[in-house]
Amino acid sequence: MACPVNNTVELNPTLLPLEWLLGTWECDEPGEGSFPTIKPFRYTETLHFSHVGQPVINFMFNAFHAESKKPMHRECGFVRMQPGTNRVAFIIAQNSGLVEIEEGELTGQQLSLQSQQLARTSFAKEPYVKQICRVFQLRSDGKLEQTVSMATDNQPLMQHLRITYRRS
Ligand code: HEM
Repeated sequence: MACPVNNTVELNPTLLPLEWLLGTWECDEPGEGSFPTIKPFRYTETLHFSHVGQPVINFMFNAFHAESKKPMHRECGFVRMQPGTNRVAFIIAQNSGLVEIEEGELTGQQLSLQSQQLARTSFAKEPYVKQICRVFQLRSDGKLEQTVSMATDNQPLMQHLRITYRRS
């Protein structure tokens, strides 16, 4: 869902290096989910990145079961850039009850992020996530790729998700 004022408000200049991320992205084929402790799975996902003229990008990520189409994982939040640098921060709330701050660097059209702060509800199910590493890359074929790796209480850092999207 595009922000209603998105078309009328100019992008804040701080965010120009991230302009390529803005818009709606639909996965072109189901993404692959895995982790040593779970059954491998497939999912679809839509990403929305918008702005309202502030030096902030607003985002929503909605994932669905590849076959049943039922809603699954959801995230929403904000992206900020440190003016004059390539430092980027993602401020994220997840429907699982996890909230996190990821920080990292923009290199060309690749964003590499690492979790700095993680918090969860007092009644979250174990295992707890200990670390998250996420990469967004706009490839030369125009597709956007996202990979997410995580470490939990009982597993070292390993890939959980890989998916590619096309601009819709
Ligand atoms: C399982 C974290 C995104 C689907 C898990 C587990 C954790 C986790 C901690 C349990 C692993 C275990 O039992 O050892 C995260 C984090 C995410 C994320 C931190 C984002 C940063 C997603 C997305 C999907 C997804 C986008 C897409 C549908 C699943 C499924 C399982 C799972 C199907 C296995 C069943 C279950 O335990 O619910 N995830 N996840 N996850 N995740 Fe994710």
